[in-house]
Amino acid sequence: MTNNKITIAIDGFSSTGKSTVAKQLAKELSYVYVDTGAMYRAITLYAMRKGYIKSDSFDVPGLIKDLPSLNLKFVFDESLGYAAIYLNEENVEDEVRTLEVSQYVSRVAAISEVREKLVAQQQEMGLEKGVVMDGRDIGTVVFPNAELKIFMTATAEERAGRRYKEMKEQGQDVNYEEVLKNVTDRDHLDTTREDSPLVKAEDAIEIDNSALNIEEQFQKILQLSQDTIAAQKI
Ligand code: DC
Repeated sequence: MTNNKITIAIDGFSSTGKSTVAKQLAKELSYVYVDTGAMYRAITLYAMRKGYIKSDSFDVPGLIKDLPSLNLKFVFDESLGYAAIYLNEENVEDEVRTLEVSQYVSRVAAISEVREKLVAQQQEMGLEKGVVMDGRDIGTVVFPNAELKIFMTATAEERAGRRYKEMKEQGQDVNYEEVLKNVTDRDHLDTTREDSPLVKAEDAIEIDNSALNIEEQFQKILQLSQDTIAAQKI
């Protein structure tokens, strides 16, 4: 039997709801979901714990030296309904979501050696297809031949509002202004970095979800996925 599974790449600005729709899609299609942002976040957490990143300094060579010994993996978590990120055998799924990690992660993601390691691992995870991967460079660098590429956008205010609500619900002590600043700072760093900046792949389908609710967005992308899968069978 031929394998009709496809690779679905979902890229876009931070807090556009990429992971929400990617998880829904993976579940519906029985595909594997890979949150590549969690991998950059786990390396950032490691650098913070080791003292390589401090508020006023960043020992980049120190972090690069440790990269070969860092082990990242995803382990399916029944209660979450998706895979949690593990750093050297420790479940760090919650810890990588803090505002502190968010504040440093773009700097870590700008390091070419970090990207090289993570892109190689991501490509390996997608070898068999049947994956929904979300990030910033999935359609441009990780899987330039992905059968379906989605590029998600929404206004910075809309994204900060959603993120703020989510963090409050998780019990984090944040205010809207600092979340908005984090969103716009990350947009700037992610789009202007030299290595693999966030850009829309030429063949990606852009979806501005400022005015879409989660269900409408899911249905729209599910339809695109099913059409693409059906086209593979011809
Ligand atoms: O999707 P996220 O907010 O969890 O991503 C965290 C950071 O990691 C984001 O600011 C940019 C970076 N990132 C990246 O450079 N490439 C990816 N494929 C995924 C994330």
